[in-house]
Formats: sequence, structure tokens, C-alpha cells
Amino acid sequence: MRNRFNRRKFINNLAITGAGLAIGAPHIVSAGTSNTKPAILGGPKAHAGSFPSWPVMDAVEEKGLADVLKSKRWGRLDGSVMARFESEYSQLLGARHSLGVSSGTAALTTILGALDIGPGDEVIIPVYTFVATYNVVVLNYALPILVDTDMESFQIDTAKAEGAITPQTKVIMPVHIGGSPADVDAFVAMGKKHNIPVVEDACQAHLAEWKGKKVGNFGLAGAFSFQSSKNLNCAEGGAITTNDESFITNCYTFHNQGQGGRSTSYSTGMGTRGTNLRLTEFQGSLLLSQMARVVEQSNRRWENAQYLSQLLKDVPGITPAKLYPGTTKSAFHLYMFRYDKNYFAGLSREKFLEALTAEGVPNATGYGQMNKSSYVTALATNKHYLKVYGEKTMKEWLERNHCPQNDALTSEQSVWLFQYMLLGTRKDMEQIAEAIRKIQQYAGEIAKK
Ligand SMILES: Cc1ncc(COP(=O)(O)O)c(C=O)c1O
Repeated sequence: MRNRFNRRKFINNLAITGAGLAIGAPHIVSAGTSNTKPAILGGPKAHAGSFPSWPVMDAVEEKGLADVLKSKRWGRLDGSVMARFESEYSQLLGARHSLGVSSGTAALTTILGALDIGPGDEVIIPVYTFVATYNVVVLNYALPILVDTDMESFQIDTAKAEGAITPQTKVIMPVHIGGSPADVDAFVAMGKKHNIPVVEDACQAHLAEWKGKKVGNFGLAGAFSFQSSKNLNCAEGGAITTNDESFITNCYTFHNQGQGGRSTSYSTGMGTRGTNLRLTEFQGSLLLSQMARVVEQSNRRWENAQYLSQLLKDVPGITPAKLYPGTTKSAFHLYMFRYDKNYFAGLSREKFLEALTAEGVPNATGYGQMNKSSYVTALATNKHYLKVYGEKTMKEWLERNHCPQNDALTSEQSVWLFQYMLLGTRKDMEQIAEAIRKIQQYAGEIAKK
């Protein structure tokens, strides 16, 4: 398969494509400019400038924070800023209710707490996710069932998720990874068919849409993160969305020491567990200020990502992650694509990324094989898990977490670009595509370096 790609044919294709794409686009970088040497071989950088810095802030944030400071009402039990944020966030998402909590992890923890998930319960999650999705299950001594990845979309494989359901399954928790919706219709149908609540881990997916409706509205509840890198951020924070009034009350209660009440004088709560996962008024204020920009930023990412995908369409060996047909908008927290070295003279992904970095294009390989990491496999011999589930079940659990598609995707194909890059200009997108074209053209030489 090595060098199966014919360079001359490729250059011809690029010339044709460049002309074709130019019809709907103001400016397309032509194949000719790819003749400049890649930066890693001493040529000029394709992207010599800088991408927009993140986070974005101005005097509005400063005033909001100072107002909270001066009010001396710093916690949510003292002030009204968090409540205002929750009202605006639920409106923005078209959800009936939202609750701000101290992180995305706290949002998931609160949801699982309100559902009273515990030892003996199984929760279905994707293997291709941030470790927080796994951690919240394990903190409840429940069994996380790691499901394989659909290589085309990078999302959880729906057929395998359904196949992983057992009588112990208490929650199905798809993640909208990279900010792109998982196959929502399939999960909603699965939840209904098996009578199991679906919880959307939407921690990366602010304002993403499925058939015109925002994610976080499809399952029993959605969880969002406002951690620094996220598309809406206040350093550390999170939110739960739901359209179920009794569920949001249970969530509020759980995150407020299990005691309910909306003031410092606690009333008797529900259930038998709870903790403090409250967010502060300072973070509420930052979020309100950031929300003034979030729609415009989200539109810009979507438009730039689509433009980049159009530019990359005819670069053989580069395949942007597929969006499911129900996706009317991805949040593009990450721009994910597959790299096929067979179209790059056998150049390894790591070398390709090194060359991309040299061009001034930040990147990452992204998530790996969580199911094989010692952090996860050690659960099979954890004394508490052995006590609850027994040795046989834990051995079988290791087998159940076998994810061959994810292995293939993450070992040498997956590549990420980041959300802040998509806040740049069309020119930035053209330069990213140009960097990749240059590397492709000189891949043989780079490989020898
Ligand atoms: C998919 C996913 N789930 C959960 C989380 C946890 O969010 P936080 O970092 O706010 O706790 C993150 C954060 O990166 C995430 O990406």
C-alpha cells in the first residue's frame, strides 16, 4: 500500500479542484503554492501569524467581576447571578431547566447522583472520550462499559452500544465528542426501547444542534463543561440541562449537600446522598459576560470548519470526521480528521504532525486507548470492585472493553485541531490546508529526514 498515491495525478487533481472550489469561495489557495518547501525542510511557514488567543475578554468581564466583588454576595446561596445565568443558559439552549455546577465532571456526578447510580449498576460510555466520563461512573462504584468508536465519525458506535446493554445497565451516556453530535436519534430510540435513561455528555458541545434543536435536550439530561479550554468558559464550571422539573430539583438537591432548599437554611432533601458542587457568583458573572459572544463565535467556528473541510475534500489521505445526517450544527470544540500515511509516502502520523507544527499549525493526536491504560485496567483488581463484582465479572469486564476500531483510529490516524483556531479568518483556514498540501508534496523527503 505504500506510495499507492500517484503524485502527478494528485497535482492535476488539485489544479482541477482549486478551480472548482473557487466558484463558491472568495479565495482558494491553488496547487501551485504548494511548491514552496515545507517549513520542516527549511521553507517558509504556511501559517506565519498567530491564531486568535483564547479566552476572549474585555471590560464587560472586568465590570461583571468587580460588581460581584463589591456586592459581597460571592456564593450562589447569597446572590442572584448564578440564577440569572441558569435562566439565560436554558433559554439559549431551548431547555426548560438548567443548573450551574462546579465543573463538567460535577454535572455528570450530580446527574448520576440524582439517578442514584451505585455498586452493581452498569453505565455505557464511549472509549473515545475524556477520562472524566469514565471517572464519574467509577466514583459511584458502578461498572463503566467502554464502547468502541465509529471510525468515520469518531463518535461512539451505536450498534455496539446497544449490544453492550445488559439487565444491569442503568444509564446510556453517549458523548458528543469534539462538539459534534453523536447519533442522537439512535440513542433516543435505544433508551426508549430498553427503558434506560440517556444522559448526554455534552461537555464539548455547547450550541451543537441535532435537527435544529440544541444537544442537551434529547436525553433525560445533558452535562456541559465551562473549563478553560471549552467554547464557553469561566475557568472551572459546568451545567446540567433537562426538560424534567422533578429531575432538576433532584439535581439541585444532590449538588447542595442532599438538602434541597434555595437558601442557607436547608430543608429536608431527597435520597440519602449529596455533596457540595455549587458554582460561585464570580463564575456566573464570567459566564454571563462570555455568553454575549458565544453565538457569534459558534457560527464562526461552524463556517470556518465547513470551509476547511471543503478545502481538504480533495486532499487524498485527509478525511474530516463525518457528521451524522441529523447534525445541523457542530460546536467544533475540536476539528478532528483521519490521516492516512499511504497518501503521504508512508510518513508516520507523528512526523506529519511535527511538520504541521513547523508550519505554524497547532495540533494533537487526541485521545488514545483508555481501555488499555493501566489507570483503567487496574480497576479489574481494585479491592472494592472485587468485593462488589467478584473476580470473574471483572475479568470478563476487561474483555468487554475490547475496542479494535478505536485501536486502529487512535494508533496512527486521528488528528485534532482546536476550537480557537476556527475563530480565525478564512485565510487561516487556507493556510492550514496549504500546510497539509505542502507536507504531502514533500512527504517522501520529510520521511527521510
Ligand atoms: C467529554 C468530556 N466529559 C467531561 C468533561 C469534564 O469537564 P470538566 O473538566 O469541566 O470537569 C470534559 C472536559 O474536558 C469532557 O471533555
